[in-house]
Amino acid sequence: SGPIVVKDLAEQLGAKATDLIKRLIALGVMVGVNNELDKETAVIVATEMGAQVEERASVEEREEILLQGDEDREHELQERPPVVTVMGHVDHGKTSLLDKIRSTRVTASEAGGITQHIGASVIDWNGRSIVFLDTPGHEAFTAMRARGAQVTDVAVLVVAANDGVMPQTIEAINHAKAANVPIVVAINKIDLPDVNPERVRTELTEHGLVAEEWGGDTMMVPVSAHTGEGLDKLLESILLQADIMELKANPNRAASGTIIEAQLDRGRGPVATVLVSRGTLRVGDVFLSGSVYGRVRALINDRGERVKEVGPSMPVEVLGFNQLPEAGDDFVILEDERQAKSIADARASRSRQSSESGSRGVSLDEFYQRL
Ligand code: GTP
Ligand code: MG
Repeated sequence: SGPIVVKDLAEQLGAKATDLIKRLIALGVMVGVNNELDKETAVIVATEMGAQVEERASVEEREEILLQGDEDREHELQERPPVVTVMGHVDHGKTSLLDKIRSTRVTASEAGGITQHIGASVIDWNGRSIVFLDTPGHEAFTAMRARGAQVTDVAVLVVAANDGVMPQTIEAINHAKAANVPIVVAINKIDLPDVNPERVRTELTEHGLVAEEWGGDTMMVPVSAHTGEGLDKLLESILLQADIMELKANPNRAASGTIIEAQLDRGRGPVATVLVSRGTLRVGDVFLSGSVYGRVRALINDRGERVKEVGPSMPVEVLGFNQLPEAGDDFVILEDERQAKSIADARASRSRQSSESGSRGVSLDEFYQRL
């Protein structure tokens, strides 16, 4: 770790560059945003700026412990469905693939009545469920990752066989790798004449994804969203991948999870789609997300039906927010509405403060590690 540029240091500290420069000037160091600082100076000024930040982090840490509750014990854990994000280059067939899966893999009684109300859908297949997230284009995925939210268990990378690996394909690979999410490749549009799935396999090898058939560990399934060819194999591969991961959660506790999207609905007010990561979410629960809190007034599943409760991995629309929560934020369920309110208020005033001081609340430890 050598010298560091002022604006990079500011970014790492979550501080405004101008505030950092003011501090440096006070220390007798005259620099501009693009100048380099030696490590010693960087540590000194970071310590100064970090000192107040750390206090704040420890309050957050205490909150965290309160909010996360106990670790689940092994015997409390039950299998949960995988949460799958579909990624890939523009027009490679992500939406078509999901549509085809949805239209053909729902139980008879539900067939026909399926309209997708939320940006997530639950597929029932061979007696098991798979949750697909349609929304996360790259941006949403990145935003969630930036906030540390890990909602996806498996990424399905769609590559059109006639087009091959394209810039957003590579981006998607990088996102998934950075988030440590295993990739299952769907080589799509194999119904087109003169396409060669082998070419896609070769191209992917150059980006570190080696097909199982070639001795690697990435499942690559030729499919067609138009004819439906290969889709069973794709779902099977996703479940195989999920089995390796032994996805489990304790359904018998207060829920927590992630806000997938949130919007203001004219008739219904603030509506959020959430994904439950553990526990069971119920109507009447007191929730807290960021500085927003309230009581769950209604839950609506991916089929547009009102439900009383949902368990781990399940996406659901939540009504009852008084403000818009932020996509990518966590939510938790608390016993006590007053407690939720007081944490929400504290967070709101903290975020006001930090937007004034330009600091995001990085702990010193974290900072030194990055240096
Ligand atoms: P964006 O959301 O814009 O990134 O695109 P997408 O990846 O969701 O692709 P979409 O499903 O919209 O499909 C793009 C085009 O490819 C459409 O014209 C589809 O009809 C066509 N397409 C998708 N899958 C297949 C397939 O398996 N075979 C053929 N022949 N065409 C396909
Ligand atoms: Mg699409």
